[in-house]
Amino acid sequence: MTEAASHSQFTPRVFSGIKPSGGLTLGNYLGAIKRFVAMQGEAYETLYCVVDLHAITVWQDPAELRTATREVAASYLASGIDPEKSILFNQSQVSQHAELGWIFNCVARVGWMNRMTQFKEKAGKNAEKQSLGLYAYPSLMAADILLYHATHVPVGEDQKQHVELTRDIAAKFNHDYKTEFFPLTNPVIEGPAMRVMNLRDGTKKMSKSGESDMERINMLDDADTIAKKFRKARTDPAPLPESLDGLKDRPEARNLVDIYAALSDQSPEAVITEYAGAGWGQFKPALADLAVAKLAPISSEMQRLLDDPAEIDRILARGSERARAIAAPILERTYDIVGLVR
Ligand code: AMP
Ligand code: TRP
Repeated sequence: MTEAASHSQFTPRVFSGIKPSGGLTLGNYLGAIKRFVAMQGEAYETLYCVVDLHAITVWQDPAELRTATREVAASYLASGIDPEKSILFNQSQVSQHAELGWIFNCVARVGWMNRMTQFKEKAGKNAEKQSLGLYAYPSLMAADILLYHATHVPVGEDQKQHVELTRDIAAKFNHDYKTEFFPLTNPVIEGPAMRVMNLRDGTKKMSKSGESDMERINMLDDADTIAKKFRKARTDPAPLPESLDGLKDRPEARNLVDIYAALSDQSPEAVITEYAGAGWGQFKPALADLAVAKLAPISSEMQRLLDDPAEIDRILARGSERARAIAAPILERTYDIVGLVR
């Protein structure tokens, strides 16, 4: 692969997505949505997707899937994704995702899929009983990204391996068909909150599907619930140290400092400088107040948008049309390269 294929011939374009599977967490907000908003502007063309075809790799009740799809769309809008500046849509309305996904199923190797840690974690000992879709999921994710020749993909740390696989698929396609058609996409994983941890166990990721609701902050939690969850968050008894080094073996403490930093747009160092020597009785309420100040306006705007699902559907339909206008010629060109007669 030459430099040309990885950079200059491609328009700077951002693509990212979130699965509509259950409620959104503070991890989704800080690791993804907040950064999606920040990337809107002059530097990139931005596409943000509700990846419903990914959600159904595990069972989704149809009515709940529809609600969750509108909820992710509402969270994008309420957080500041502007549907004029960005292309906001849901994956299943642009059939080219599934079509390019099939082609990539024929490029990716079984051995590559076997190395995907997310599948191993999700499948556990029950790999045989998982859907074939869950196993092939990273290949569809590569299609999501490469269908738009996206150059940059903002994601949380847990998605790094999937973006690297996307590069492997692009490189193998380009090599096999002697072309430089697909770019080598860059993951964008920056800032203090790329892996927001579980509030009850600082060694586990905060996720939509943990056993207890006390483990996570949901974007739609009310102020009292947020305050209670931070108050009850697990910590060690020691106060905050003088420097970040002092948080090395204190994952729960480190997590709360990182959350504070991300919410207040500061570095973790700056937070430690401000709160050096403070006890949890001081830090936790400050963190809760900050989280409520940032999340409350977003959740009330989400509620307002969700009262009018037809308007959300109109925005998604319009975004899908704009997405198709980019995707269709790229898929057609791919078919030509592969030798599919049309
Ligand atoms: P998902 O909810 O799995 O579709 O994830 C959507 C986006 O949120 C991806 O970019 C994830 O990396 C990001 N994300 C999910 N959970 C976390 C977390 N606990 N910390 C940081 N980012 C996260
Ligand atoms: N796999 C991602 C997740 O679980 C969601 C996703 C699907 C995605 N397609 C994508 C993220 C393309 C970035 C780009 O979080």
